[in-house]
Formats: sequence, C-alpha cells, structure tokens
Amino acid sequence: MSNQLLNELLDQQLYSRRKSQQWRVRHAIGLLDSTHVELYGRRLVNFASNDYLGLTHHPRVLEAAREAVVRCGMGSGGSPLITGYSLEQQAAEAAIARWKQAEAAVLLASGYQTAQAVVQTLAAAVKRHGPGGRFLLDKLCHASLIDAAGGSGVGFRVFPHNHLGKLERLLAAAPEGQLQVVITESIFSMDGDAADLAGLAEVKAKRPFVLVLDEAHGSGVYGPAGAGYAAECGLESVVDIAIVTLSKALGLAGGAVCGSGRFCDAVVNCGRAYIYSTSPPAILAAAAVAAIGVLQDEPQRQQRVRGLARRVRRALLDKGIAMCPGDSPIIPVILKSEHRAMEAAERLRDQGLLVIAIRPPTVAANTSRLRITLSSDHSDDEVEALIAAVSPLRFG
Ligand SMILES: Cc1ncc(COP(=O)(O)O)c(C=O)c1O
Repeated sequence: MSNQLLNELLDQQLYSRRKSQQWRVRHAIGLLDSTHVELYGRRLVNFASNDYLGLTHHPRVLEAAREAVVRCGMGSGGSPLITGYSLEQQAAEAAIARWKQAEAAVLLASGYQTAQAVVQTLAAAVKRHGPGGRFLLDKLCHASLIDAAGGSGVGFRVFPHNHLGKLERLLAAAPEGQLQVVITESIFSMDGDAADLAGLAEVKAKRPFVLVLDEAHGSGVYGPAGAGYAAECGLESVVDIAIVTLSKALGLAGGAVCGSGRFCDAVVNCGRAYIYSTSPPAILAAAAVAAIGVLQDEPQRQQRVRGLARRVRRALLDKGIAMCPGDSPIIPVILKSEHRAMEAAERLRDQGLLVIAIRPPTVAANTSRLRITLSSDHSDDEVEALIAAVSPLRFG
C-alpha cells in the first residue's frame, strides 16, 4: 500500500539530493582481502576502508571467531540485562579495560550505539543535578555524537573545530555549578587531524569539565599497543570517558565505553541504547580479545601504516595539495565541489583504485573531498600508484 502524501514528500527530498549532486547509492562489493575488493567484476585496491591495520582478515582474529561461533552459536539471544551478557563479553570488557588502562569497559554492538549510551548516561546525571549541565561539542564531531547530544534532552553548544579559545569562553560563561561535558574526537574521521589534547588539558585545569573522547580513529593507530591517541600523548588521565570503536583498526564491528567502574555501572543502568538492544554476539567478543592481542604482539602494523601516511602526505604536499600535519591514515584531498569529487573518484576507479568521494551533508558545503585511507597491508607499489593517480587530480 502506498501513501500518496508520503511518496510526494520523499520524491521532493530525493529530487533535491539528486539536484545538488548529493545523491547516494550503495555499491555491493566483494571483499577479497584486507586491501582488495571486487566491484562490478573488477578487482580494485581498497583505499576507502577503516581497516587501518589489516585485522579484518588476520588469521588469529579469524581463528578466535571460528572457535567462538562453533562453541557459542551466532546470536547472543538477548539484551545484556536479560540473558545476552556472556562470559565472552565479560572477558572482552576486561581485555578492553586493560588495553585502555581504564577501570572498566562496556561492550556494545556498534560505535554509534556507544555514543548514544554514553550521552544518555551523562544526560541522566545532568537531569538529576539542580544547576543542570550541557554538552560542548567540537564542530567536526561525528554524527553519532551530534545525534546523541541532540536527542539527549540536555542543551548543547558547538565550538569551532579545535578552537580552544572559544571553548574556554563558553566554559567561563557557564552558570555556577552547572556540569560542563566536552565531547571531541582524538583523530577526526573526515579530516584526519588530531584534537589538541595538551591544550584541552590546560583548559581543563583552569575550568574543570568532563571530557569525553571518541577514539574511533585513534585506537590501534596510536599509542603503545594501539591504546589510542591520548595514550600516545601521555594524556590518558585527562580523559574521563573514552569511546572506542571496534569497527576501524580492530577490523571488527562494535564499540566500547571505557571509564571508571562507576560510570560503566551507570551505563548499564541508564544507557538506554545499551539496555534495550540485543548484546553483541560472543563471536565478536572473542574476536575483539584476539585483535587486542595482535595489537600488542605486532606493533609493526602501526608503524607501517603511519609510515605510509607520512609518505603519502609528503608526496601530495610536494605536488601542492594542501595537507594537515600528522601521520593519521585518513588523508582528505579537498576538491570543493561535489561534481569534482565524484569525477575524481571515478577517475581513480578507472585506474583500479577505490577511493570514496565524501560530500555534504557529511562534510561542510564546498569541502567535498576524496577521503583516502591507508592500511598497513597496502604494498609499496599500491601506495606509489595511489600517489601517481591523485597528484594530477587537482589540476585536471
Ligand atoms: C568518529 C566516529 N565515531 C563513531 C563512529 C561510529 O562507529 P560504528 O561505525 O562502529 O558505528 C564512527 C564511524 O564512522 C566514527 O568515525
């Protein structure tokens, strides 16, 4: 049955997306290995995945998953407070907490859901607090954090990207006794640059706040055993609550909250996105433990991907392409218009390279870009082919 009014509204919405070159389609890809895919019968080198360390196909991770699925079955069978919390999840949470040097961790089915659960838990605390509180988000925070804050029933403000002067002014203007919660990312998902954690630490020393750090793209790639960007900077103690996704460098799916035992107890009791959703399966939990083991035992993966990132950034910079400093494997090439970004992605695809064009509303208007991502499993030849293909694009 179709509803005419709804159909008309959808048509208008979709037409405006098409007209502004923001139309999105999904391409069903065949996953061949950690760095190669098949798309419409063609083998492509994948420079668009978040599998920075090649763990999606690591034998140790696959073996742990195989063993767990045979022993425990596929689904967890329930939400965590009913029967969905397994011994495997308990072990994974302990491993994640040890890895992140946090008192405790809670495992969830996705990073998006983790952001929701963290913000819901904080919002529940703020609502009990007489003077109230608010969330202060970096402008480039991921949609999962913005959606969570927007739906929390607690006020929130956005400060310009990494603009700590503006953040300090917002903190200074806060009513006496109000709880201020600053939310930012360690490595930003679309720009590949880093939060100024040392600067945040200084501001926090002057004007106390709760710091929530989304380490989705810092985990695995930075810090001893990939413990994250805060660990790399020696600033773990500045972070009150860390969000980890298992879906990027760990090569899996899922997310985890890392924080104090008290905060994790609060997530279990007040994080609706945690409480009212089926628990991640044992296969995921077992694979997470194995992936953390690989991070500890194979530091060369982290070194290689960051070395490759430095090489690509330097080469593109030499060609006059603007690059932000750093060595994260997320490398944006800004082409401004949606059309140019789409055309560039198509040109790379013709050369056997899969790079995705990122357009508004995911990024700001007039900042459409190619988002290149690197993996430690990319060969030197593949990376050289990428540099050669991207270098002339801006001038094409
Ligand atoms: C910074 C950031 N946080 C959270 C998420 C959500 O994680 P997941 O894909 O595991 O739901 C992403 C994913 O793209 C991300 O980039």
